Amino acid sequence: MPRRSTPRSVPESRTPEHPNGDEVNRRLAALIDVAGTVSRSLDLDITLNRALDKVMALAHADAGGILLYHERSRTLSYRVYRGLSEEFVRKIGRIGLGEGIAGRAAELRKPIISDDIARDPRITRPLPGIEQFKAFMSIPLVARGRLLGVMNISTRDARGFPPEAVSLVSSISDQVAVAIENAQLYEALKRKERTRGDLLRKLISIQEEERKRIARGLHDEISQSLTGLAFNLEAVLATLPPDATETRGKLEEIKTLSIRMLEEIHRVIYQLRPSLLDDLGLVAAVQWLADNYLEEAGIRVSFETIGTERTLAPEAQIALFRIAQEAITNIVRHSNATRVNISVEFKKRSAAVHIEDDGKGFNVEEIMGSRETDRGLGLLGMKERAELLEGRLAIDSSPSRGTRIDVEIPG
Ligand SMILES: Nc1ncnc2c1ncn2[C@@H]1O[C@H](COP(=O)(O)OP(=O)(O)O)[C@@H](O)[C@H]1O
Ligand SMILES: [Mg+2]
Repeated sequence: MPRRSTPRSVPESRTPEHPNGDEVNRRLAALIDVAGTVSRSLDLDITLNRALDKVMALAHADAGGILLYHERSRTLSYRVYRGLSEEFVRKIGRIGLGEGIAGRAAELRKPIISDDIARDPRITRPLPGIEQFKAFMSIPLVARGRLLGVMNISTRDARGFPPEAVSLVSSISDQVAVAIENAQLYEALKRKERTRGDLLRKLISIQEEERKRIARGLHDEISQSLTGLAFNLEAVLATLPPDATETRGKLEEIKTLSIRMLEEIHRVIYQLRPSLLDDLGLVAAVQWLADNYLEEAGIRVSFETIGTERTLAPEAQIALFRIAQEAITNIVRHSNATRVNISVEFKKRSAAVHIEDDGKGFNVEEIMGSRETDRGLGLLGMKERAELLEGRLAIDSSPSRGTRIDVEIPG
């Protein structure tokens, strides 16, 4: 009959109270080694695998695994393991807090050791292959007061874990927990960024669709009616008797007004959805912006195309156009510039727009870093739009030195 082991929590007495110098050095060396190894990556699985390998090597364990704690269901499950069969891990499934040995270690937040795991009364389920293991150690992983998981290690021989191994693994577990926390935070951040990117992309496409719809409405309804009005006025003018000079003058005025309105509406339509962009491409559309906004405001423009114009991917094309639009609006609104150089550049796998003004410039960091107001949102939007398409946007400006915007987008 095998001896039934007496289960126990790690007694304080198993930790040597006054470790000798060699022991302290060994422990320090192990700590430094683990800290360096497990914090090298922010990938959770890499971190867990490295931590487990290190701890198993240090404690001379034959099997082991790290279970992660799932806060919502208050359960633990294996994420990485060694020397355990898949069946074993599947049978274990999810362990409730307080259940079995690992669940207890997690609940108490204290390491638990068993000298003969196969016969430990705290094991509540039949586990395949458990007979081959003897000593077992379950160490909770806690970082900044938060339970993150449990690390289990086990030996096949009856020697068990020496007291140094117990205290060594306990002190290492804090390092492991911090590394896990960092990796989890990083994963959560990446997930959030992906979601944010997806939302932004969706928002932009909805906005473009909406603009297209409004532009179409303006064109089909209002601009057609105004054109009709101008035609009718023309017809009435043609039938007026020669002596109706006053009426003729009034009608001419109305006609001029309706033509001006028509032009204004075309400008709005164009801003909403530049058909030139689809029909004639980026160069013509940016040139149109320069003529209609900069020249109109009395700013001299030099315009250049570098490389041979080609058709770009629609998203890249519209993004470059919107960015140029914002940059040009900013020049008219804020810069007091007298000259602007614009170039549209076509490279093999990307296209770029460079816009440079000789205006008063601004402190980029101050404006981009300010969070209290809406200020800087235009510039930020330009950057986001470029980065969403794997492009880059650089803003180069300093007070009284003018401003230069360089944007490049693959496509
Ligand atoms: N070309 C420019 N010349 C001078 N100042 C500029 C220029 N572009 C942007 N700025 C400054 O940066 C600020 C932020 O610009 P932006 O993010 O587009 O927001 P907004 O145009 O709504 O103010 C502007 O208020 C202005 O002070
Ligand atoms: Mg702006």
